[in-house]
Amino acid sequence: MEKSENRKKNLHKNQRNDENPRSGIQEDTTIRIEDAYKIYKRGKIEVVALRGMNCEFKRGELTVIMGPSGCGKTTLLNMIGGLDRLSSGTIYVNQKDITELSDNALEEYRRDNIGFVFQFSSLIPELSAEENVLLPIKLASKLNEKKRNFVNTLFKLVGLQERKTHRPDELSGGERQRVGVAAALSNNPEIILCDEPTGELDSTTKVKIMDLLHKIVEMYPNKTLVVVTHDPELKKIADKLYYIRDGQISHQMSDKELYDEMAKVETGEHDYQKSFRRRGKKQALLELKEIEHYIKDKIDKLENSQ
Ligand SMILES: Nc1ncnc2c1ncn2[C@@H]1O[C@H](COP(=O)(O)OP(=O)(O)O)[C@@H](O)[C@H]1O
Ligand SMILES: [Mg+2]
Repeated sequence: MEKSENRKKNLHKNQRNDENPRSGIQEDTTIRIEDAYKIYKRGKIEVVALRGMNCEFKRGELTVIMGPSGCGKTTLLNMIGGLDRLSSGTIYVNQKDITELSDNALEEYRRDNIGFVFQFSSLIPELSAEENVLLPIKLASKLNEKKRNFVNTLFKLVGLQERKTHRPDELSGGERQRVGVAAALSNNPEIILCDEPTGELDSTTKVKIMDLLHKIVEMYPNKTLVVVTHDPELKKIADKLYYIRDGQISHQMSDKELYDEMAKVETGEHDYQKSFRRRGKKQALLELKEIEHYIKDKIDKLENSQ
């Protein structure tokens, strides 16, 4: 037993040594996490929240990370979002190591690249829905016509055009959460991190939020969505699924497994399997691009040799 464990460890080590982390990162990988450890210290007590975590997230994909309470989900999102720092390990975002950033640069990174959706939408009670969504823009930059138009588009996306002037206490829990999603998107961040986004919602409202998150990657294929949850139902919207246990990825479900899993699910009007077709299309486009490059290269060589 111990031997096979060691062999597994060595295999893992060898694989990692073969890899040059920076050059090994594919172009469509937005986030890559390598050997991440986070140890919280409280007096003499140490809690290891991340224990050598390795995972990656791609553009145009919605990754769902599942795991029981206390397994390190929120910690992982906080690290990706630059809200806190790892004890050791690396986080590459667009090939740049964010663990090396100064505090100011990390704050800038967070402001310009990250949108957070929490279990309880963090709306300001005195402001209207629209003002809440405009707030992150106002804090980061000047408001202009284009940004106002984008906010209008977001209200359409979340289906709350008629509710813009309402204050949070005049909205239902699901509506508040949808305003929270719009606010997370308002600065047009590349990365959207959702922490138990449906945790507080009833099942009908939950489906609406799931649908909305799914729609975001459909509409904005440059965005990367990461959803952490302990709710198995969110598997339905996943392009990729990771399981965490005790601060480590314990299992990554393959496309095939995930597809089979989803085929079992009653999808009703929500055609979540569409995301697989979308991915098929994306792959085909990538391959076409490669062929295009190849032909162009051949023609260039021919022309140069003449
Ligand atoms: N600020 C902190 N100080 C000490 N321990 C913490 C802190 N934040 C999280 N933890 C601990 O780290 C572990 C992982 O927590 P968390 O990432 O919140 O898990 P999850 O989101 O999966 O429920 C838990 O054991 C939790 O108690
Ligand atoms: Mg949590």
